[in-house]
Amino acid sequence: MAQINPSILSADFARLADEAEAVRGADWLHVDVMDNHFVPNLTLGVPIVESLARATDIPLDCHLMIEQPDRWAPQFVEAGAGSVTFHAEAAAAPVRLAREIRAMGARASMALKPASPIEPYEDLLPELDMVLIMTVEPGFGGQAFLDIVLPKIRRTRQLIEKHGLDLWLQVDGGVSAETIARCAEAGADVFVAGSAVYGAADPAEAVRALRAQAVAATAGAPWSCAH
Ligand code: DX5
Ligand code: ZN
Repeated sequence: MAQINPSILSADFARLADEAEAVRGADWLHVDVMDNHFVPNLTLGVPIVESLARATDIPLDCHLMIEQPDRWAPQFVEAGAGSVTFHAEAAAAPVRLAREIRAMGARASMALKPASPIEPYEDLLPELDMVLIMTVEPGFGGQAFLDIVLPKIRRTRQLIEKHGLDLWLQVDGGVSAETIARCAEAGADVFVAGSAVYGAADPAEAVRALRAQAVAATAGAPWSCAH
């Protein structure tokens, strides 16, 4: 199944509960945590995730764009995140961290910036529930989709199939009506969309339309989206 995760980075931060309600039907809410060190932007932390988890029944997909995720990720699980993504470039001990996140009851996910290859992490994939392939440089919403990342999405899908893993493949950055089909054809099955959802007149309808495009783009593919 194709999953659509609206990014609240493009929402009104003073009205987060309403903004969650505005995307009813979305699979997860994508929560971008930035520390102004790993990326040149600063957003939100544990207390807001805690409040948001109480305010919505849509599960939270926390994307940590921070240094020292080994230290912080467990606190986001405790705050109520159902999925926690750390960056491979920032994690000191990714295997230990993934195991800790899973042991606490959340889904463990690892993200790669556009220039980071997937191949060094092949043996680590069974430790993960999701891989996030960034399709922009992390830090800001509303950036242009980077086509150069498509081959890496394809190679990641091949590795997932090769090892027979039940592993979701998420794309994040510049995902819109113009680009989602390309991502789905390349092998992604979880799609983060910020400006394309919250910039739409009807965000819930934008979620449905994006999902329909992703499903159509992968009809007949041997993996996920269509079934
Ligand atoms: C960027 C964030 C994304 C961002 C996507 O660093 O990780 O989740 O919100 O925004 P759009 O969909 O507008 O590119
Ligand atoms: Zn994100």
